[in-house]
Amino acid sequence: MKSLEAICYSNFTLKILNQLLLPSEIVYEDCSTSEKAFHAIKLMKVRGAPAIAITAALALSCEAYSLSFSNSKEFAEFILSKLNYLCQSRPTAVNLFHMADSAKHLINRCMQENASLKTTQETFYSFAKNLFIKDIETNKAIGFHGLKAIKSFKNKNIKILTHCNTGSLATAGYGTALGVIRALHAENCLEKVFATETRPYNQGSRLTAFELVHEKIPATLITDSMASFAMKTFGIDAVIVGADRVAANGDTANKIGTYQLAVAANFHKIPFFVASPSTSIDLKTQKGEDIHIEQRPKIEMISLNEKLLAPMEIDGWNPSFDVTPHKLISGIITEYGVIYPDSHNSFNMTSFLKNGENFS
Ligand code: MRU
Repeated sequence: MKSLEAICYSNFTLKILNQLLLPSEIVYEDCSTSEKAFHAIKLMKVRGAPAIAITAALALSCEAYSLSFSNSKEFAEFILSKLNYLCQSRPTAVNLFHMADSAKHLINRCMQENASLKTTQETFYSFAKNLFIKDIETNKAIGFHGLKAIKSFKNKNIKILTHCNTGSLATAGYGTALGVIRALHAENCLEKVFATETRPYNQGSRLTAFELVHEKIPATLITDSMASFAMKTFGIDAVIVGADRVAANGDTANKIGTYQLAVAANFHKIPFFVASPSTSIDLKTQKGEDIHIEQRPKIEMISLNEKLLAPMEIDGWNPSFDVTPHKLISGIITEYGVIYPDSHNSFNMTSFLKNGENFS
C-alpha cells in the first residue's frame, strides 16, 4: 500500500498536503515559492522537523528555477537571502537551520571556485532534491536500528506508546518514531501502538491516527491525560517519540507533552526512546536550556474549527515544544545506530557523531 505523502515533488513543481485540513479533507496545495513555503511552515500546513527543511529547500529551488539570473553571483545572493528568510518561519526544529547552513556552504564554495551560473544552479537544485530522496533512506535505517533495539528486550506482542506525528506526514516518507513502529509491525512483533491525541494541535489524533488507520497498523488513540494510566493498565513496553532538536548532551526538544511522558515512563520503568535523524542533532547547542522553544498563538489552544473551547479573555501559555532531560532518555535511535547513555546516564553526542565506531 502506498503511504501518505506530505510532500509531492517532481520536475520543479512542489505540492504539499495541507495538514490543517486532515483528517476530513485531502487537499494538495502548490508550494513552489519560498513565500508559499514560509507561510505553509509557519501556519503548520506542513510540519515535522524533516518535512519543514525539505519543503523549504524544494520550494526555493522551484522558485529559483522559474526565474532568470544573469550570473552566478546574482543567483547566489538570491538563494542566500531566501534561506535567511525561510529560517525565520519556525525556530525550534534544527533541520531547517542545518539545511540552510549546508546550502550556504555549497553556494559559497561555488563562489570561491568561480563556478558558472549553470554549475551553481545545478549544485543547489541537486542538493534540494537529494534531501528529499535521502530522508526516506535515513528513516528506513532508523526503523531498522529501532527494531533491533526494541527486540533486544522483547520479541513479540510489543506495545508502544508514541506522541505527536513522526510518520510519512512529518518526513519525506516512512517516518522516524513511526518508522520504528512500522518496522515492528512489518516484522509481526507489534501488538499495538497507543497514540496520544497531542493537544493543542492534535497531530496525534488528526495525523498519526490517520496514518495508522491508512496503514492498517493496530492502534488505540488516547488523550494526553490518559498516558500514565495507559502505561500502567496496558503494560506499555516502550515509549518512542521524535525530535526537533537534540542538544550535545542528549537533552531533546520535541512536541509539547513529551517531557511528561518521559517522567511517567521513568516512574513505570518503561524504556523511553527518541528517534532522531542526525540532521536533528545540534552539536552547537550544549544543553536543553539553550534551545529556543517556539511559542504558538493562544488562539490555537483555545479554539477548534473556529469554535471557542475557553473564554477568549483567559490568559494562555502555548509552547509548541518542551525539553526532555537526557537523564530520562534510554536511547537515541539514529540512522547510524542507537546512542545509549554511559554509566553516568550521560550522552556524548559529539563523540558519537564523530566516531562511527561508537554506534551500536
Ligand atoms: O509542531 P510540529 O508538528 O512540527 O512538531 C512535530 C514534532 O514535534 C515531531 O515529533 C518532530 O518534528 C519529529 S518529526 C519526524
